[in-house]
Amino acid sequence: HEEITKVKNINTIEMGRYEVDTWYFSPYPEEFAKCDKLYICEFCLKYMKKKKTLNRHKAKCDLRYPPGNEIYRNGPLSVFEIDGKKNKIYCQNLCLLAKLFLDHKTLYYDVEPFLFYIMTECDSRGCHMVGYFSKEKHSQDDYNLACILTLPPYQRKGYGKLLISFAYELSKKENKLGTPEKPLSDLGLLSFRSYWTQVLLEILRKHKGNVSIKEMSEMTSIKTEDIISTLQSLNLIKYWKGQHIISVTPKVIEEHLKTCGKGTEKKIESKLIHWMPAT
Ligand code: COA
Ligand code: NA
Repeated sequence: HEEITKVKNINTIEMGRYEVDTWYFSPYPEEFAKCDKLYICEFCLKYMKKKKTLNRHKAKCDLRYPPGNEIYRNGPLSVFEIDGKKNKIYCQNLCLLAKLFLDHKTLYYDVEPFLFYIMTECDSRGCHMVGYFSKEKHSQDDYNLACILTLPPYQRKGYGKLLISFAYELSKKENKLGTPEKPLSDLGLLSFRSYWTQVLLEILRKHKGNVSIKEMSEMTSIKTEDIISTLQSLNLIKYWKGQHIISVTPKVIEEHLKTCGKGTEKKIESKLIHWMPAT
C-alpha cells in the first residue's frame, strides 16, 4: 500500500488532439514519472518524454484502432475487445494511463486475467479512444466490470453509462448476473446509480409496477442487491413481513426518470454486438 502515500508526479499528458491534466499518481517507470508532462500515442498508448520522440513515433506507428477484435459498431462508435494475455504491453499502458484518473490502487502489470473493452469514436484519422472498462475473465464474485474510465475530454457526455450498459449487455449474453467490483469511486457509484435507476424505472413504467425484484434482475442482469439498494435510495421499496415490496405510482416513476439523464442519449444496440461468451 506504499502507492497510497505517493504524490502526483506527472501533471499533464498529451494524447491525440488533447492535453489533459492528470488527477492522481500513476506508477510509470521512474524515468518517466519524473516528467511534468508525458506524450502518449493515442493508438498504441506508448508513453514518451519528449514531443520530438512522439512525432518520430507517429511516423512509424501504423495502429489506427485498438489491437483487438471490433465487437460492436454503431455509426462512428465502436467497441474493441482486447485480451490482456495477447496484448500485454497495450493493456499495461492502458492501466498506467487509467491510474492517472483513479484514486485507489488498481492493477497495472498483472493484466493477463482480464479482458479490456475499449470504446472509440472513429473519423478519417482513426478510432479514438473515449474510454474503456476491464473485466475479469473468470470472476468468482459475479463481477462484470473491474475498472471503468472515460477520458476527461469525453466525460459527462453519456459515455460512462454507455460503457456500463455494454457491460450488462455482455452479462445478458452470458446469461449471468453482474455487478461492478467494489469499492467504486464516487463518480463510479454516481454513474452506476444513474444507469440502474434509468433501467429499473423504465421497466416499472412498462409493467405498471407489477414486477418482482427477481424478475427485474433476470431481465437486466443487474444483481438483486443492486436493485434493492437503488430502489431504496429512491424510496420506492418497503420491507414487509420479511420481503421487499416495491411501492410506486406512475407519477413518481415519471418524476424520478426526469432526474436521470436527458433521455436523448445514445444507447447500445444489443443486436449490433458481435460476441460470444468464451467457453
Ligand atoms: N459531477 C456530477 N455528476 C457527474 C459527474 C461529475 N463530475 N460525472 C458524471 N456525473 C453523472 C452524470 O450526470 C450522469 O448522471 P445522469 O445521466 O443521471 O445525469 C452519470 O454521472 C454518468 O455520466 P456519464 O457522462 O455517462 O459518465 P462519464 O462518461 O463522465 O464517466 C466515469 C463516468 C465514472 C467513468 C468517469 O467519471 C471517470 O472516468 N472517472 C474516473 C475513473 C473512475 O472513478 N472510475 C470508477 C471507479 S473504477
Ligand atoms: Na500523476
